[in-house]
Amino acid sequence: MRKRLEDNRRKAANAMTAKMNKKSLWLIFLAGAAAAIFASQARGNAAEEIKRLAALMQWKPGMVVADIGAGDGSYSFAAVEHVGAAGKVYATEIDAKKLEDLRAEVSKRKLQNVVVVESKEADTNLPTACCDAIFLRRVYHHLTKPAEFDANIVRSLKPGGWLAIIDFPPRSGLEPVEGVPSNRGGHGVPQKIMIEELTAAGLQMRKTVNDWPDDDYCVFFVKK
Ligand SMILES: C[S@@+](CC[C@H](N)C(=O)[O-])C[C@H]1O[C@@H](n2cnc3c(N)ncnc32)[C@H](O)[C@@H]1O
Repeated sequence: MRKRLEDNRRKAANAMTAKMNKKSLWLIFLAGAAAAIFASQARGNAAEEIKRLAALMQWKPGMVVADIGAGDGSYSFAAVEHVGAAGKVYATEIDAKKLEDLRAEVSKRKLQNVVVVESKEADTNLPTACCDAIFLRRVYHHLTKPAEFDANIVRSLKPGGWLAIIDFPPRSGLEPVEGVPSNRGGHGVPQKIMIEELTAAGLQMRKTVNDWPDDDYCVFFVKK
């Protein structure tokens, strides 16, 4: 009698474990699928945005482009497709962990023409007059020393070179960025202030695109 009771208890416990394993496997599967969809969307967005940027800035094979504040490098890796083997992309970052990950990804992808550069708070750390085009995507509002940084962006551009700033006005629900000038008015940067700063640095504003994805704006400047 006792043996039968124990057998039944064991069977019930086994059935419960099997059910839980099945549920956990489903949860793991669903989380993996969601992560894969998110990653492929991010790659898709980068490819689309860079295609549009390349057309508007007239990138050509052989050009040198810098992605300042490259993050995980999605936009640098999309950019290198447009400048080809004869061109070059500088992917810069200020964050030590992101720099390490960027370097690992560049070597994993065996990209000879993506150069990772450690950026500084007030300096791009790029060579002087190295770039035909520079872009900063959602980075400008993180700059803590915009006047000094802007002067170095201008220094890093070739005469006739183009700069694109993709950013957004202050958004509610986001924490203010630490250390940035107080005139930002929240997490983001008003387009007018950004244009005034880069014009004061010596660039000429050429074009404004206000229908950039995710309610961002994109403003283009030229170094005369
Ligand atoms: C919101 S993320 C954008 C990353 C990437 N551009 C993108 O669009 O996915 C802002 C990035 O700017 C970087 N950053 C902040 N200040 C910087 C500076 N002075 N120089 C270079 N990168 C900087 C941060 O480390 C962060 O990776």
